[in-house]
Amino acid sequence: MQTVRSSEELARARAGLRGTVALVPTMGALHAGHMALVAEARRQADKVVASIFVNPTQFGEGEDFGRYPRRPAEDARMLEEAGCDLLWTPLAEDIYPTGFATTVSVGGLTELWEGEARPGHFDGVATVVAKLLLAVRPDVALFGEKDFQQLGVIRRMVTDLGLGIGIAGVPTVREPDGLALSSRNAYLSAEERKQAVALPKTLEAARSAVRAGKSVAKTLHEARAALRDAGFSRIDYFALVDSATLQSLDEPGGDMRLIAAAVIGATRLIDNVAV
Ligand code: PAJ
Repeated sequence: MQTVRSSEELARARAGLRGTVALVPTMGALHAGHMALVAEARRQADKVVASIFVNPTQFGEGEDFGRYPRRPAEDARMLEEAGCDLLWTPLAEDIYPTGFATTVSVGGLTELWEGEARPGHFDGVATVVAKLLLAVRPDVALFGEKDFQQLGVIRRMVTDLGLGIGIAGVPTVREPDGLALSSRNAYLSAEERKQAVALPKTLEAARSAVRAGKSVAKTLHEARAALRDAGFSRIDYFALVDSATLQSLDEPGGDMRLIAAAVIGATRLIDNVAV
């Protein structure tokens, strides 16, 4: 695996890649969820490029940018073992040159849920992902369903800007007890880690209830109560939504998703399940 840092080095290395290319954008502190994206990338293309960049513009004021886990040596080793061909760890000044003044802002979807809870977050995501895609020009880029709304926002952006890059979603990889793998799980104390499993468990229970025909309002009300009982101090949302538009559903119908974001201790977790 070759590792490059500057845009010039990336351009040279990219020009040397033969065949189709897949890109896996990440912020590092890699785990088996990221590795599932790399494995799927290998299935979909001849060469795999991964990027690691903890993108400051997608973190809000008072969020965890400063303490976000950084493990560059371990990340590189994992990517090498997974068969990644090229690792790009951009320099902040290449992504955001002095005087940077351009933002990619996706409307619609971004006004809901994560967008409401984290103002500006999706502008940061869309802008950096646009830059990564334009720099690497892959045939396909892979994103996790773990960040379900992010996947929708990126699909929207790639269609709207006519980038001509395939966007593939990869199912969420979970711990044996059901907790979705996340770089942020590292923040959880042993006690919080035990409590955190209530998030996937509650999503599963709500899915079963909706499928069994129980009232949506009652199901969501009970789910929120269950999370509070389990020790979550704040629930940003717990909703049944249309998978494409992410609009709230009062009645079941069509392709549905249950999505949730909640805080335990000092850690904000998100998760979702198909219904
Ligand atoms: P990061 O949180 O590092 O995630 C990188 C990719 O891994 C995303 O597409 C995310 O959805 C996926 N992922 C994370 N946990 C997963 C899991 N348990 N199962 C499957 N996929 C998982 O998401 C970002 O970084 C950033 O917003 C980024 C897109 C890189 C832009 O900065």
